[in-house]
Amino acid sequence: MAAVSVREGGPTLKTPLDFEDSPLSRSARQPLLLGVFLDLQDRKISNYPTSNSWKFDYNVDIVKKADALGFDIAFSRTQWLPKGGYDGEASLDAFIALGAMAAVTKNILLISTIHVLYGPLHPLHIAKYGATLDHISKGRWGINIVTGHRAIEHQMFGWNRIEHDKRYEMAGELFDVVNSLWGETENLTYEGRVSPWKLENAWITPKPLYGRPVLVNATGSPAGIDFATRYSDLVFITSPGGAAIESALATLPDHIATIKNAAKARGRTVKTLINPVIVSRDTPEETDAYLQAIVDGQEKKAPGDSKFGHKGYDSDAHAWKGRLDGRHKQGYNLGGNIEVIGSPEQVVEQLAALHKVGIDGVQLGFYDWKIDFDHFATKILPLLKEAGLRVD
Ligand SMILES: Cc1cc2nc3c(=O)[nH]c(=O)nc-3n(C[C@H](O)[C@H](O)[C@H](O)COP(=O)(O)O)c2cc1C
Repeated sequence: MAAVSVREGGPTLKTPLDFEDSPLSRSARQPLLLGVFLDLQDRKISNYPTSNSWKFDYNVDIVKKADALGFDIAFSRTQWLPKGGYDGEASLDAFIALGAMAAVTKNILLISTIHVLYGPLHPLHIAKYGATLDHISKGRWGINIVTGHRAIEHQMFGWNRIEHDKRYEMAGELFDVVNSLWGETENLTYEGRVSPWKLENAWITPKPLYGRPVLVNATGSPAGIDFATRYSDLVFITSPGGAAIESALATLPDHIATIKNAAKARGRTVKTLINPVIVSRDTPEETDAYLQAIVDGQEKKAPGDSKFGHKGYDSDAHAWKGRLDGRHKQGYNLGGNIEVIGSPEQVVEQLAALHKVGIDGVQLGFYDWKIDFDHFATKILPLLKEAGLRVD
């Protein structure tokens, strides 16, 4: 089901998957999509030293390398936290940083996280900025649509947190209009029903190359799944169980079925992606030693600090609730939604098991991007190809 303009009698908007030659369609043909989940902000998992940096150049090197290796997606988070909120001081904005990477990469999809309700951003801003990045990237740029789950972020923008499901309703109206602007053949006039903006004779040109940019969202709630299956091509999902691979594998099948069935009921398909952190060395013993070094360097959390949210800031996100359920096996708090730990063979086994339960792609994170991504490229990627999970 493609989107129809909010203008009565307006045109239907195609999506990138409607075009066989779009960058998204090319990636969607991979058995297991591969992505990198960049750290554009200071994050501290452990005192064990790493080379990691939030800096643009450091992250550009990772993305160029991922691009050369045939990875499908580069993506990063954006957070709006007060002084002292990040693990260090710095945090680049993913909208700008991933957009800028369009100019220095060739094939990889670049997904910018945007808090679409903050500001508020006007639909014309999103449509115009999006069409511009779509042309610069030749259809490789997209939005991870987030609505803001932390009270403190909404307050930073000057209001109290908007109620959870209302946020998705507002994002829905926003993207009905943004999609319309991308597809319209006439000027558009519209007054927000649940949104604080209006448009009069609004027009965007150029139009995106493949209908619209890639749309993504990250969710685990019923309202979020409803939104994702209406608007998005990719859904970043989380383990309804814990971070340990066993509990993820046990709880993901039902969750994925719910999402895929909801999309099917709308006549659409969505791809499900999850973000594991990979901890691996050549042998199980060397991997254990590396893992132990990371764990030994972890600081005890102060009382009141949430293990799962930055500094315990209040969050109403559904997607991470599995972490609080004592019935599930949790991991080592290594920063990914799930943890894939072992020798190259063991990592491939676990990624194959995730694929088998319905995961279409993985957004990889590493404890040390320089050392661990090299290890992945030289030792694990060839085995993924042998296993048929990646094709050249
Ligand atoms: C892989 C992934 C990446 C996310 N990135 C961000 C982000 O950059 N900024 C943000 O505010 N929320 C981020 N979130 C949180 C989501 O935006 C959302 O608030 C959360 O998943 C809860 O949504 P739900 O209540 O619909 O499940 C991310 C979630 C996931 C799973």
